[in-house]
Amino acid sequence: RGSAAVLTAAGSGTRLGARVPKALVELGGVPLVLRAARGLAEAGCLDALVVTVPAAELGAFAALFPGGHVPGTTLAVAVVPGGATRQASVAAGLAALPAEVDVVLVHDAARCLTPPGTVRAVEAAVRGGHRAVVPALPVTDTVKRVGPADATGAEPVTATVDRASLRAVQTPQGFDRSLLEAAHVAGASRAGDEAAAASDDAGLVEALGEQVWVVPGDERALKITTPHDLAIAELLLSDRG
Ligand code: CTP
Ligand code: MG
Repeated sequence: RGSAAVLTAAGSGTRLGARVPKALVELGGVPLVLRAARGLAEAGCLDALVVTVPAAELGAFAALFPGGHVPGTTLAVAVVPGGATRQASVAAGLAALPAEVDVVLVHDAARCLTPPGTVRAVEAAVRGGHRAVVPALPVTDTVKRVGPADATGAEPVTATVDRASLRAVQTPQGFDRSLLEAAHVAGASRAGDEAAAASDDAGLVEALGEQVWVVPGDERALKITTPHDLAIAELLLSDRG
C-alpha cells in the first residue's frame, strides 16, 4: 500500500501567454510546478510523486528537484514527459507510478496554492473507501443555459439552472489506482470522440458508471489560466503575509 500523486505540468500555457511553459512561470519567485509539488509534500500523506512535463523541457524541470526529491522534503519525484493532451499526460504519469501504490491523486500544477489540508482530505476519503473523490466548491454565480446566438451575437436563455446542486470541481482528484487506470484505458479507446471527451479524470471514471464523491474544496485551489488569475494568485500570496 502507498499513496502517490501525478502532478500534471506538461501544458504550454497558451492562455497565460508567457515565454516559458506555464508550470515554469514564477509566482512570488517560485515556479508554479515547484510550489504545487511543495504543497503536495507538505500534506504528508504521499509516498511518491510523478511530474509530467513538456518533453522538450525535461532538463529544466528535473533541475527543480535535485536528487529526485521535492527540495527540503523526503518526497521522491520522477519527472516524465507528458502527452499532447492533459488526459495523455495523466496516462503517462500513471505508467510511471511505483508498483506498491494503490491510491493516486491527480493534481494540476496550475492549482499551485492548493492547501495541504485539501490534499489530505481527498487522500483520506479515498483511503476511507470512496474510490473516486473530487474537491469542489458551491457555485456562487447564477447559472443559465442558453441556445444558439442570433445574428447580433445575443444568446437566448433557455433555462436557469438550480444552483444549489451545482459544484465547481478542483484538483487534486483522488482515486483507487486500479479504477483510475481502467478509466484511462477506456478513455483512450474513445480518444478523438469530442462528444465523449472528459474534461477531468473523474469524468472518465463517471463514464465507467462508477460513483464519484465530492469533498469540500478551497478557494486557494484556484486554477491559474489567464494573466488575471496569476494576478489574483499574487494577491493571495501577499495576503498570507
Ligand atoms: N497539462 C498537461 N499536459 C497537457 C496539457 C495540460 O500536463 N498536454 C497540464 C497543465 O500543465 C496544467 C493542467 O494540465 O497544469 C491544466 O491544464 P491547463 O490549465 O489548460 O494548462 P495549459 O494546457 O498549459 O494551458 P492552456 O490550455 O492555456 O495552453
Ligand atoms: Mg490546456
